[in-house]
Amino acid sequence: MTPMRVGLLGLGVVGGGTYDILKRNSQEIARRAGREIVVTCAAVREKDVAQVSKKVGQSITLYTNPLQVVESPDVDIVIEVMGGTQPAKDLVLKAISLGKHVVTANKALLAIHGNEIFKAAHEKGVMIGFEAAVAGGIPIIKSLREGLSANRIQWVAGIINGTSNFILSNMRERGISFSEALKEAQALGYAEADPTFDVEGIDAAHKLTLLSAIAFGIPIQFDKAYTEGIAQLTAKDITYAEEFGYRIKLLGITKRTEQGFELRVHPTLIPEKRLIANVEGVMNAILVSADAVGSTLYYGPGAGAEPTGSAVVADLVDVARMADAAPHQRVPYLAFQVDRLTDDPVLTIDQVHTSYYLRMSALDRPGVLADITRILAALNISIEAMLQREPTEGEERVDVIILTHRALEKDVNQAISQIEQLDTISGPVVRIRLETLA
Ligand code: HSE
Repeated sequence: MTPMRVGLLGLGVVGGGTYDILKRNSQEIARRAGREIVVTCAAVREKDVAQVSKKVGQSITLYTNPLQVVESPDVDIVIEVMGGTQPAKDLVLKAISLGKHVVTANKALLAIHGNEIFKAAHEKGVMIGFEAAVAGGIPIIKSLREGLSANRIQWVAGIINGTSNFILSNMRERGISFSEALKEAQALGYAEADPTFDVEGIDAAHKLTLLSAIAFGIPIQFDKAYTEGIAQLTAKDITYAEEFGYRIKLLGITKRTEQGFELRVHPTLIPEKRLIANVEGVMNAILVSADAVGSTLYYGPGAGAEPTGSAVVADLVDVARMADAAPHQRVPYLAFQVDRLTDDPVLTIDQVHTSYYLRMSALDRPGVLADITRILAALNISIEAMLQREPTEGEERVDVIILTHRALEKDVNQAISQIEQLDTISGPVVRIRLETLA
Protein backbone atom coordinates (compact mmCIF):
# COMPACT_ATOMS: atom_id res chain seq x y z
CA MET A 1 0.00 0.00 0.00
CA THR A 2 1.24 3.54 -0.69
CA PRO A 3 2.54 5.44 2.35
CA MET A 4 0.30 7.95 4.10
CA ARG A 5 1.90 11.37 3.63
CA VAL A 6 1.88 13.82 6.49
CA GLY A 7 2.41 17.59 6.59
CA LEU A 8 3.22 19.19 9.94
CA LEU A 9 2.00 22.65 10.85
CA GLY A 10 4.59 23.40 13.52
CA LEU A 11 7.76 21.63 14.52
CA GLY A 12 8.07 22.88 18.08
CA VAL A 13 7.67 20.76 21.23
CA VAL A 14 4.75 18.58 20.05
CA GLY A 15 5.66 18.63 16.33
CA GLY A 16 9.24 17.66 17.19
CA GLY A 17 8.05 14.83 19.44
CA THR A 18 5.71 13.57 16.71
CA TYR A 19 8.49 13.68 14.11
CA ASP A 20 10.89 11.78 16.39
CA ILE A 21 8.36 9.03 17.17
CA LEU A 22 7.43 8.55 13.51
CA LYS A 23 11.10 8.23 12.65
CA ARG A 24 12.16 5.97 15.52
CA ASN A 25 9.14 3.64 15.48
CA SER A 26 8.40 3.70 11.75
CA GLN A 27 8.42 -0.08 11.37
CA GLU A 28 6.24 -0.75 14.40
CA ILE A 29 3.82 1.98 13.34
CA ALA A 30 3.58 0.62 9.77
CA ARG A 31 2.81 -2.83 11.16
CA ARG A 32 -0.06 -1.34 13.13
CA ALA A 33 -1.39 1.09 10.51
CA GLY A 34 -1.13 -1.29 7.59
CA ARG A 35 0.94 1.23 5.66
CA GLU A 36 3.92 3.47 6.18
CA ILE A 37 3.39 6.97 7.56
CA VAL A 38 5.94 9.52 6.33
CA VAL A 39 6.36 13.21 7.03
CA THR A 40 6.86 14.95 3.70
CA CYS A 41 6.90 18.61 4.76
CA ALA A 42 6.54 20.99 7.68
CA ALA A 43 5.83 24.65 8.29
CA VAL A 44 8.18 26.43 10.69
CA ARG A 45 8.78 30.01 11.65
CA GLU A 46 11.45 31.90 9.70
CA LYS A 47 13.61 32.21 12.81
CA ASP A 48 13.51 28.44 13.45
CA VAL A 49 14.42 27.27 9.92
CA ALA A 50 18.16 26.87 10.56
CA GLN A 51 17.69 24.98 13.82
CA VAL A 52 14.97 22.69 12.42
CA SER A 53 17.04 21.99 9.26
CA LYS A 54 19.81 20.74 11.50
CA LYS A 55 17.37 18.28 13.10
CA VAL A 56 15.56 16.98 10.00
CA GLY A 57 18.29 17.36 7.35
CA GLN A 58 17.04 16.91 3.78
CA SER A 59 14.39 14.39 4.75
CA ILE A 60 11.45 16.82 4.59
CA THR A 61 10.66 20.10 2.84
CA LEU A 62 10.41 23.11 5.12
CA TYR A 63 8.07 26.02 4.40
CA THR A 64 7.60 29.23 6.28
CA ASN A 65 4.09 29.69 4.90
CA PRO A 66 1.84 27.05 6.52
CA LEU A 67 -0.65 27.28 3.65
CA GLN A 68 1.96 25.64 1.42
CA VAL A 69 1.89 22.56 3.66
CA VAL A 70 -1.92 22.40 3.59
CA GLU A 71 -2.02 22.78 -0.18
CA SER A 72 0.93 20.51 -0.95
CA PRO A 73 -0.02 17.64 -3.29
CA ASP A 74 2.38 15.50 -1.22
CA VAL A 75 0.19 15.75 1.90
CA ASP A 76 -2.76 13.44 2.71
CA ILE A 77 -3.04 14.36 6.39
CA VAL A 78 -2.38 17.74 7.99
CA ILE A 79 -1.11 17.73 11.57
CA GLU A 80 -1.85 21.03 13.28
CA VAL A 81 0.43 21.51 16.26
CA MET A 82 1.01 25.25 16.02
CA GLY A 83 -1.51 26.22 18.73
CA GLY A 84 -3.68 29.33 18.99
CA THR A 85 -6.98 29.85 17.23
CA GLN A 86 -5.70 31.77 14.23
CA PRO A 87 -4.33 31.04 11.68
CA ALA A 88 -4.90 27.45 12.89
CA LYS A 89 -8.67 27.66 12.26
CA ASP A 90 -8.34 28.90 8.67
CA LEU A 91 -5.65 26.31 7.92
CA VAL A 92 -7.70 23.44 9.35
CA LEU A 93 -10.82 24.54 7.44
CA LYS A 94 -8.71 24.85 4.29
CA ALA A 95 -7.35 21.32 4.75
CA ILE A 96 -10.90 20.03 5.23
CA SER A 97 -12.12 21.84 2.12
CA LEU A 98 -9.32 20.12 0.17
CA GLY A 99 -10.56 16.75 1.46
CA LYS A 100 -7.56 16.20 3.73
CA HIS A 101 -7.80 14.53 7.12
CA VAL A 102 -6.60 16.57 10.10
CA VAL A 103 -4.95 15.63 13.38
CA THR A 104 -4.66 18.41 15.92
CA ALA A 105 -3.39 18.90 19.46
CA ASN A 106 -5.11 22.27 19.66
CA LYS A 107 -7.63 22.31 22.51
CA ALA A 108 -8.26 26.07 22.33
CA LEU A 109 -9.12 25.78 18.64
CA LEU A 110 -11.60 22.93 19.18
CA ALA A 111 -13.10 24.31 22.38
CA ILE A 112 -13.94 27.55 20.61
CA HIS A 113 -14.47 26.52 16.97
CA GLY A 114 -14.95 22.75 17.25
CA ASN A 115 -18.66 22.70 16.33
CA GLU A 116 -17.92 24.54 13.08
CA ILE A 117 -14.83 22.44 12.31
CA PHE A 118 -16.55 19.10 12.95
CA LYS A 119 -19.55 20.16 10.85
CA ALA A 120 -17.28 21.05 7.93
CA ALA A 121 -15.35 17.79 8.32
CA HIS A 122 -18.56 15.76 8.47
CA GLU A 123 -19.87 17.38 5.29
CA LYS A 124 -16.59 16.72 3.52
CA GLY A 125 -16.22 13.18 4.90
CA VAL A 126 -12.78 13.69 6.45
CA MET A 127 -11.50 12.66 9.85
CA ILE A 128 -10.39 14.96 12.65
CA GLY A 129 -8.19 13.33 15.29
CA PHE A 130 -7.73 15.27 18.52
CA GLU A 131 -6.57 12.78 21.13
CA ALA A 132 -3.52 14.97 21.83
CA ALA A 133 -5.73 17.96 22.65
CA VAL A 134 -6.80 16.54 26.02
CA ALA A 135 -4.46 15.22 28.71
CA GLY A 136 -1.39 14.76 26.48
CA GLY A 137 -0.50 11.09 26.18
CA ILE A 138 -3.53 9.64 28.01
CA PRO A 139 -5.95 8.04 25.52
CA ILE A 140 -8.95 9.61 27.22
CA ILE A 141 -10.81 10.61 24.05
CA LYS A 142 -10.65 7.05 22.76
CA SER A 143 -11.65 5.66 26.15
CA LEU A 144 -14.70 7.89 26.47
CA ARG A 145 -15.71 7.75 22.82
CA GLU A 146 -15.18 4.06 22.23
CA GLY A 147 -14.18 2.12 25.34
CA LEU A 148 -17.09 3.41 27.45
CA SER A 149 -19.71 3.62 24.72
CA ALA A 150 -21.99 1.15 26.55
CA ASN A 151 -22.37 3.50 29.50
CA ARG A 152 -24.48 6.40 30.61
CA ILE A 153 -21.76 8.61 31.99
CA GLN A 154 -22.59 10.41 35.25
CA TRP A 155 -19.57 12.62 35.72
CA VAL A 156 -15.99 13.22 34.68
CA ALA A 157 -13.46 14.88 37.00
CA GLY A 158 -9.89 15.44 35.98
CA ILE A 159 -6.53 17.00 36.66
CA ILE A 160 -6.07 18.12 33.07
CA ASN A 161 -3.51 20.89 33.30
CA GLY A 162 -0.01 19.64 34.02
CA THR A 163 1.44 23.07 34.68
CA SER A 164 -0.96 23.97 37.46
CA ASN A 165 -0.65 20.51 38.99
CA PHE A 166 3.14 20.86 38.87
CA ILE A 167 2.85 24.23 40.62
CA LEU A 168 0.48 22.96 43.34
CA SER A 169 2.63 19.86 43.96
CA ASN A 170 5.78 21.92 44.30
CA MET A 171 4.16 24.51 46.55
CA ARG A 172 3.01 21.72 48.85
CA GLU A 173 6.03 19.39 48.76
CA ARG A 174 8.93 21.82 48.47
CA GLY A 175 7.32 24.89 50.01
CA ILE A 176 8.34 27.02 47.01
CA SER A 177 6.35 30.04 45.90
CA PHE A 178 3.79 30.12 43.13
CA SER A 179 6.02 32.19 40.83
CA GLU A 180 9.12 30.00 41.35
CA ALA A 181 7.10 26.90 40.51
CA LEU A 182 5.62 28.56 37.42
CA LYS A 183 9.10 29.51 36.16
CA GLU A 184 10.24 25.89 36.49
CA ALA A 185 7.18 24.61 34.60
CA GLN A 186 7.87 27.09 31.79
CA ALA A 187 11.53 26.06 31.60
CA LEU A 188 10.45 22.41 31.25
CA GLY A 189 8.17 23.26 28.29
CA TYR A 190 4.89 22.35 30.02
CA ALA A 191 3.26 25.77 30.08
CA GLU A 192 1.19 27.30 27.29
CA ALA A 193 2.68 30.20 25.29
CA ASP A 194 0.50 32.39 27.51
CA PRO A 195 0.86 30.78 30.98
CA THR A 196 -2.22 32.58 32.26
CA PHE A 197 -4.13 29.93 30.28
CA ASP A 198 -2.61 27.33 32.62
CA VAL A 199 -2.88 29.10 35.96
CA GLU A 200 -6.29 30.71 35.36
CA GLY A 201 -7.87 27.36 34.45
CA ILE A 202 -8.56 28.33 30.83
CA ASP A 203 -6.50 25.50 29.31
CA ALA A 204 -8.25 23.02 31.62
CA ALA A 205 -11.65 24.47 30.65
CA HIS A 206 -10.81 24.05 26.95
CA LYS A 207 -10.09 20.38 27.57
CA LEU A 208 -13.04 19.85 29.92
CA THR A 209 -15.43 21.31 27.35
CA LEU A 210 -14.32 18.65 24.86
CA LEU A 211 -14.65 15.88 27.45
CA SER A 212 -18.13 17.11 28.36
CA ALA A 213 -19.32 16.98 24.77
CA ILE A 214 -17.98 13.47 24.30
CA ALA A 215 -19.26 12.19 27.64
CA PHE A 216 -22.81 13.51 27.30
CA GLY A 217 -23.52 14.02 23.60
CA ILE A 218 -23.92 17.80 23.81
CA PRO A 219 -22.36 20.50 21.61
CA ILE A 220 -19.02 22.02 22.61
CA GLN A 221 -19.86 25.00 24.85
CA PHE A 222 -16.69 26.61 26.14
CA ASP A 223 -18.51 29.91 26.73
CA LYS A 224 -20.65 28.22 29.42
CA ALA A 225 -17.69 26.81 31.39
CA TYR A 226 -17.07 28.32 34.83
CA THR A 227 -13.34 28.94 35.22
CA GLU A 228 -11.33 29.77 38.32
CA GLY A 229 -7.53 29.35 38.53
CA ILE A 230 -4.89 28.72 41.16
CA ALA A 231 -3.17 32.11 41.27
CA GLN A 232 -5.07 33.18 44.41
CA LEU A 233 -4.35 29.99 46.40
CA THR A 234 -2.19 30.46 49.47
CA ALA A 235 0.16 28.03 51.21
CA LYS A 236 -2.03 28.52 54.31
CA ASP A 237 -5.07 26.94 52.65
CA ILE A 238 -2.99 24.06 51.29
CA THR A 239 -1.81 23.37 54.87
CA TYR A 240 -5.26 23.70 56.48
CA ALA A 241 -6.72 21.39 53.83
CA GLU A 242 -4.09 18.80 54.74
CA GLU A 243 -5.02 19.05 58.40
CA PHE A 244 -8.55 18.01 57.44
CA GLY A 245 -7.20 15.16 55.30
CA TYR A 246 -7.60 16.82 51.88
CA ARG A 247 -5.37 17.87 48.97
CA ILE A 248 -6.11 20.87 46.79
CA LYS A 249 -6.08 20.23 43.05
CA LEU A 250 -7.19 22.26 40.05
CA LEU A 251 -10.03 20.02 38.94
CA GLY A 252 -12.19 20.10 35.83
CA ILE A 253 -15.60 18.69 36.66
CA THR A 254 -18.49 17.98 34.33
CA LYS A 255 -21.55 16.30 35.71
CA ARG A 256 -25.00 15.22 34.59
CA THR A 257 -27.77 16.53 36.87
CA GLU A 258 -31.54 16.58 36.52
CA GLN A 259 -31.45 20.30 35.75
CA GLY A 260 -28.64 20.18 33.17
CA PHE A 261 -24.89 19.72 32.94
CA GLU A 262 -22.28 21.16 35.27
CA LEU A 263 -19.13 22.37 33.54
CA ARG A 264 -16.59 23.91 35.90
CA VAL A 265 -12.88 24.27 36.58
CA HIS A 266 -11.67 25.47 39.99
CA PRO A 267 -9.31 24.57 42.83
CA THR A 268 -10.94 21.71 44.71
CA LEU A 269 -10.37 19.90 47.99
CA ILE A 270 -10.24 16.13 47.39
CA PRO A 271 -9.95 13.52 50.18
CA GLU A 272 -6.25 12.57 50.26
CA LYS A 273 -7.09 8.87 50.22
CA ARG A 274 -8.46 9.12 46.66
CA LEU A 275 -5.92 8.00 44.05
CA ILE A 276 -6.51 11.17 42.05
CA ALA A 277 -5.51 13.32 45.04
CA ASN A 278 -2.05 11.74 44.81
CA VAL A 279 -1.41 12.65 41.19
CA GLU A 280 1.61 14.91 41.37
CA GLY A 281 3.77 17.08 39.13
CA VAL A 282 2.94 17.38 35.46
CA MET A 283 0.96 14.13 35.49
CA ASN A 284 -2.71 14.22 34.57
CA ALA A 285 -5.54 11.94 35.68
CA ILE A 286 -9.19 11.69 34.75
CA LEU A 287 -11.79 9.90 36.81
CA VAL A 288 -14.96 8.82 35.00
CA SER A 289 -18.07 7.64 36.79
CA ALA A 290 -20.35 5.62 34.53
CA ASP A 291 -23.39 3.45 35.23
CA ALA A 292 -22.26 0.09 33.87
CA VAL A 293 -18.53 0.01 34.50
CA GLY A 294 -18.49 2.10 37.70
CA SER A 295 -15.45 4.32 38.25
CA THR A 296 -12.42 4.20 35.97
CA LEU A 297 -9.26 6.28 36.34
CA TYR A 298 -6.91 7.25 33.51
CA TYR A 299 -3.46 8.43 34.51
CA GLY A 300 -0.39 9.56 32.59
CA PRO A 301 1.75 12.45 31.37
CA GLY A 302 -0.43 15.40 30.40
CA ALA A 303 2.17 17.38 28.49
CA GLY A 304 5.59 17.14 26.91
CA ALA A 305 7.00 16.36 23.46
CA GLU A 306 6.75 12.59 23.12
CA PRO A 307 3.75 11.94 25.41
CA THR A 308 1.70 14.37 23.33
CA GLY A 309 3.37 13.11 20.13
CA SER A 310 2.28 9.60 21.15
CA ALA A 311 -1.36 10.72 21.01
CA VAL A 312 -0.84 12.50 17.67
CA VAL A 313 0.69 9.36 16.14
CA ALA A 314 -2.12 7.17 17.52
CA ASP A 315 -4.60 9.38 15.67
CA LEU A 316 -2.49 9.11 12.52
CA VAL A 317 -2.65 5.34 12.77
CA ASP A 318 -6.44 5.52 13.16
CA VAL A 319 -6.72 7.75 10.11
CA ALA A 320 -4.46 5.44 8.11
CA ARG A 321 -6.65 2.47 9.06
CA MET A 322 -9.97 4.23 8.47
CA ALA A 323 -9.26 6.70 5.67
CA ASP A 324 -11.03 4.66 3.05
CA ALA A 325 -14.14 3.92 5.13
CA ALA A 326 -17.32 5.91 4.42
CA PRO A 327 -17.92 8.74 6.94
CA HIS A 328 -20.96 7.01 8.43
CA GLN A 329 -18.82 3.97 9.25
CA ARG A 330 -16.33 5.99 11.25
CA VAL A 331 -16.41 6.79 14.95
CA PRO A 332 -18.28 10.14 15.34
CA TYR A 333 -16.01 13.05 16.26
CA LEU A 334 -17.87 13.75 19.49
CA ALA A 335 -18.84 10.13 20.18
CA PHE A 336 -22.56 10.66 19.46
CA GLN A 337 -24.02 10.80 15.95
CA VAL A 338 -24.23 14.43 14.83
CA ASP A 339 -28.03 14.42 14.57
CA ARG A 340 -28.41 12.89 18.04
CA LEU A 341 -26.79 15.57 20.23
CA THR A 342 -29.04 16.88 23.03
CA ASP A 343 -29.62 20.50 23.94
CA ASP A 344 -30.02 20.06 27.72
CA PRO A 345 -28.65 23.19 29.37
CA VAL A 346 -25.21 23.69 30.85
CA LEU A 347 -25.80 25.07 34.37
CA THR A 348 -24.37 28.35 35.62
CA ILE A 349 -22.04 28.13 38.61
CA ASP A 350 -24.82 29.54 40.86
CA GLN A 351 -26.90 26.42 40.14
CA VAL A 352 -24.16 23.98 41.12
CA HIS A 353 -24.30 21.85 44.30
CA THR A 354 -21.01 20.97 45.96
CA SER A 355 -19.27 21.12 49.36
CA TYR A 356 -17.09 24.01 50.51
CA TYR A 357 -14.01 24.91 52.51
CA LEU A 358 -14.44 28.38 54.00
CA ARG A 359 -11.66 30.25 55.82
CA MET A 360 -12.18 33.52 57.63
CA SER A 361 -10.25 35.71 60.00
CA ALA A 362 -12.37 36.28 63.14
CA LEU A 363 -12.05 38.18 66.42
CA ASP A 364 -11.53 35.63 69.22
CA ARG A 365 -14.64 36.68 71.14
CA PRO A 366 -17.76 34.96 72.54
CA GLY A 367 -20.62 34.72 70.05
CA VAL A 368 -18.55 35.00 66.88
CA LEU A 369 -18.93 31.37 65.90
CA ALA A 370 -22.62 31.52 66.80
CA ASP A 371 -23.13 34.42 64.37
CA ILE A 372 -21.39 32.51 61.59
CA THR A 373 -23.26 29.27 62.15
CA ARG A 374 -26.58 31.16 62.36
CA ILE A 375 -25.99 32.64 58.91
CA LEU A 376 -25.11 29.23 57.49
CA ALA A 377 -28.09 27.52 59.11
CA ALA A 378 -30.54 30.16 57.85
CA LEU A 379 -29.38 29.40 54.31
CA ASN A 380 -29.66 25.65 54.81
CA ILE A 381 -25.89 25.14 54.73
CA SER A 382 -24.85 22.33 57.01
CA ILE A 383 -21.39 22.23 58.64
CA GLU A 384 -19.33 19.07 58.33
CA ALA A 385 -16.24 20.13 60.29
CA MET A 386 -14.85 23.22 61.91
CA LEU A 387 -11.40 24.23 63.08
CA GLN A 388 -10.40 27.26 65.11
CA ARG A 389 -6.72 27.98 65.51
CA GLU A 390 -5.23 29.04 68.86
CA PRO A 391 -4.57 32.78 68.59
CA THR A 392 -0.86 33.55 68.36
CA GLU A 393 0.65 35.61 71.21
CA GLY A 394 -0.64 39.18 71.12
CA GLU A 395 -3.08 38.45 68.24
CA GLU A 396 -6.79 39.11 68.67
CA ARG A 397 -7.71 37.35 65.43
CA VAL A 398 -7.89 33.67 64.67
CA ASP A 399 -8.40 31.68 61.52
CA VAL A 400 -11.72 29.81 61.50
CA ILE A 401 -12.05 27.07 58.91
CA ILE A 402 -15.36 25.43 58.09
CA LEU A 403 -16.08 22.47 55.84
CA THR A 404 -19.69 22.29 54.69
CA HIS A 405 -21.86 19.49 53.42
CA ARG A 406 -23.21 19.85 49.89
CA ALA A 407 -24.95 23.17 49.37
CA LEU A 408 -26.15 25.36 46.51
CA GLU A 409 -23.47 27.79 45.28
CA LYS A 410 -25.98 30.66 45.19
CA ASP A 411 -26.74 30.14 48.92
CA VAL A 412 -23.04 29.91 49.76
CA ASN A 413 -22.39 33.18 47.94
CA GLN A 414 -25.09 34.81 50.02
CA ALA A 415 -23.68 33.34 53.25
CA ILE A 416 -20.18 34.56 52.39
CA SER A 417 -21.42 38.04 51.75
CA GLN A 418 -23.33 38.12 55.09
CA ILE A 419 -20.33 36.73 57.01
CA GLU A 420 -18.05 39.35 55.45
CA GLN A 421 -20.40 42.05 56.75
CA LEU A 422 -20.01 40.93 60.42
CA ASP A 423 -17.95 43.41 62.47
CA THR A 424 -16.01 40.52 63.95
CA ILE A 425 -14.77 39.25 60.57
CA SER A 426 -11.99 40.96 58.67
CA GLY A 427 -11.02 40.57 55.05
CA PRO A 428 -12.66 38.34 52.49
CA VAL A 429 -13.81 34.80 53.22
CA VAL A 430 -11.69 32.32 51.27
CA ARG A 431 -13.86 29.74 49.50
CA ILE A 432 -12.55 26.56 47.89
CA ARG A 433 -14.95 23.94 46.59
CA LEU A 434 -14.68 20.38 47.87
CA GLU A 435 -15.55 17.15 46.04
CA THR A 436 -15.51 13.74 47.67
CA LEU A 437 -15.52 12.04 44.24
CA ALA A 438 -17.28 9.09 45.79
N1 HSE B 1 0.00 23.63 29.15
C1 HSE B 1 -0.62 22.35 29.10
C2 HSE B 1 -0.52 21.71 30.49
C3 HSE B 1 0.06 21.49 28.07
O1 HSE B 1 0.24 22.22 31.32
O2 HSE B 1 -1.17 20.74 30.75
C4 HSE B 1 -0.71 20.31 27.65
O3 HSE B 1 -1.96 20.65 27.15
